Amino acid sequence: MGYNDVYQAWKADPEGFWMEQAKAIDWVEAPKQALYDRGDHIYEWFADAKVNTCWNAVDRHVENGRGEQTAIIYDSPITHTKREISYVELRNRVANLAGALRAKGVEKGDRVIIYMPMIPEALEAMLACARLGAVHSVVFGGFASNELAVRIDDAKPKAIIAASCGMEPGRVIHYKPLLDGAIDLAKHKPDFCVIFQREQEVAKLIEGRDYNWHGFQFGVEPAECVPVEGNHPAYILYTSGTTGQPKGVIRPTAGHLVALNWTMKNLYNVDPGDVFWAASDVGWVVGHSYITYGPLVHGNTTIVFEGKPVGTPDAGTFWRVISEHKVKSFFTAPTAFRAVKREDPKGEFVKKYDLSCLKAVYLAGERADPDTIVWAQDQLKVPVIDHWWQTETGWCIAGNPLGIEELPTKLGSPAKPMPGYDIQILDEAGHPMPKGELGAIAVKLPLPPGTLPGLWNAEARFKKSYLEHFPGYYETGDAGMIDDDGYVYIMARTDDVINVAGHRLSTGGMEEVLASHPDVAECAVIGVTDQLKGQLPLGFLCLSSGVNRPHDEIVKECVKLVRDKIGPVAAFKLACVVDRLPKTRSGKILRATMVKIADSEEFKLPATIDDPAILDEIREALQTLGYAKG
Ligand code: COA
Ligand code: AMP
Repeated sequence: MGYNDVYQAWKADPEGFWMEQAKAIDWVEAPKQALYDRGDHIYEWFADAKVNTCWNAVDRHVENGRGEQTAIIYDSPITHTKREISYVELRNRVANLAGALRAKGVEKGDRVIIYMPMIPEALEAMLACARLGAVHSVVFGGFASNELAVRIDDAKPKAIIAASCGMEPGRVIHYKPLLDGAIDLAKHKPDFCVIFQREQEVAKLIEGRDYNWHGFQFGVEPAECVPVEGNHPAYILYTSGTTGQPKGVIRPTAGHLVALNWTMKNLYNVDPGDVFWAASDVGWVVGHSYITYGPLVHGNTTIVFEGKPVGTPDAGTFWRVISEHKVKSFFTAPTAFRAVKREDPKGEFVKKYDLSCLKAVYLAGERADPDTIVWAQDQLKVPVIDHWWQTETGWCIAGNPLGIEELPTKLGSPAKPMPGYDIQILDEAGHPMPKGELGAIAVKLPLPPGTLPGLWNAEARFKKSYLEHFPGYYETGDAGMIDDDGYVYIMARTDDVINVAGHRLSTGGMEEVLASHPDVAECAVIGVTDQLKGQLPLGFLCLSSGVNRPHDEIVKECVKLVRDKIGPVAAFKLACVVDRLPKTRSGKILRATMVKIADSEEFKLPATIDDPAILDEIREALQTLGYAKG
């Protein structure tokens, strides 16, 4: 069957299609019904089933004779460490950790926050929660205390599992003070914390609250897998919306298992036993789906890579890891390839390694620019697949399913909709747009298994953000088009979310932080084009009247404020002071126009602009930062 046959088979009988895929999962009680319509455009999949995620990701492989196969390869060029964990070891380690968590009172439905770097223990913590039916929420290690505190207050975790530190090139990230700071800031207090002490830093534990990862497992009974309902939340993952309050995307257990397992063969074309590597971070959705759950559920070997594409130690790291661990399918972000290409445009490092094991490369997280794709194709001589997805969906919306059929590549397009997704381009009023015309990208409801059924603690926000604008559709927040051959093109966001080095960030969130500076009366943050990171945030600051301190001092304080409040990962380093912001007569800040000026693109003067002269001031300010030069 080719792509069209599979897509049509899904379209003809969506529930039958997913019931068939569900057979690949080990159920405690198999689903009798696929889809549940809960009314008001809310749907759930496999709600009547009973299942355990950890069983499917770990134990069943041991039962089925894969116990000695390597489950996790840890490769850390930053700490010069390599380690392998077999499925049977993983089962034992996870069962012990789960047993210790249970002994301290963690039960099905309790939330557990995980704040860990790229070490195997991060995956073990996730799996231990899944084993108990506890709902984990992994917080990216590059986030500051304040961001962690916001997530603690929203998820209200019974426990927090953290490492003593993370490692960035040339510096140790002290996680423990960040964690302590977050718990101080948060209103909700966890019952206890579990700290994994790394060799690079031994953190001070707070007696009665903090337990040592090893010590607290001593003498406990290992835990068995706890069956949960198909619609039980597997995890909550916070992602950026338009405000500083992140959205807690809920991942439903059964659909997650069925969908991810389907993608491993059909999209990524790997068989059980093959090595699959996603060079992302467990703090992001790519890490959840394709470092932890997808490969393990499917019986693959997954790689936990603690390093960067360049500088750890050089631009050949990716190729070294691929060749050394026999990676068959490799997943990274375009920005990582741009970083490698910048240091090694001619691929001198590529030539040093035997990459015959590598069969395909997958890119996601941001738009894959044609130059980067062509460079990767030339260097690696394998299909380079752009595929589009979001934290909300948890897996690919549009892509090129190599395990079914290799569709011809069209540069700039992540190819075609995956089964489960009926993608439509709509105008502002919700009418379908003609082929080739730009509009809002929406997906006809219901979304497929594994996608979000809601936001944690925020039903009204869920409906408002995704369901209300186009009734009967899921609003993706992306704009784009579909061509005559059915290829999808993702062009821009329709909201204030920007994408910095494959990381999704809220300009609204940064504005809230800047506005808290005592000298800032008003501000705006936009995403300007960057050759390496895709976009970079740039802030405009209007000062309160009477403030006459040097502007560069205020700018420096603002940069530090964003770093302290959101984290270094926001990469907020560009800001300037302006007298006024360009607005419409109704007071809406013209961010899109400022982006066009910064990027030296042509733009139409908005008809509703209050005072066009302000745009010249904005251009001058941007020029001082090296933008708007064209
Ligand atoms: N913990 C603490 N700090 C972190 C961190 C973490 N887990 N990850 C990044 N940071 C810090 C970095 O040290 C850097 O700090 P600095 O401002 O002091 O230099 C800042 O956050 C920005 O980090 P990063 O985005 O990694 O930029 P970089 O300039 O260090 O490296 C790239 C550039 C392109 C190599 C890097 O962005 C990259 O590897 N991108 C790929 C992203 C990716 O895989 N995304 C997954 C989505 S699919
Ligand atoms: P995240 O939720 O962090 O995965 O970010 C999702 C957003 O990243 C999408 O809504 C897009 O804006 C962007 N994105 C992800 N993958 C792609 C892609 N292949 N092409 C274009 N944009 C992408």
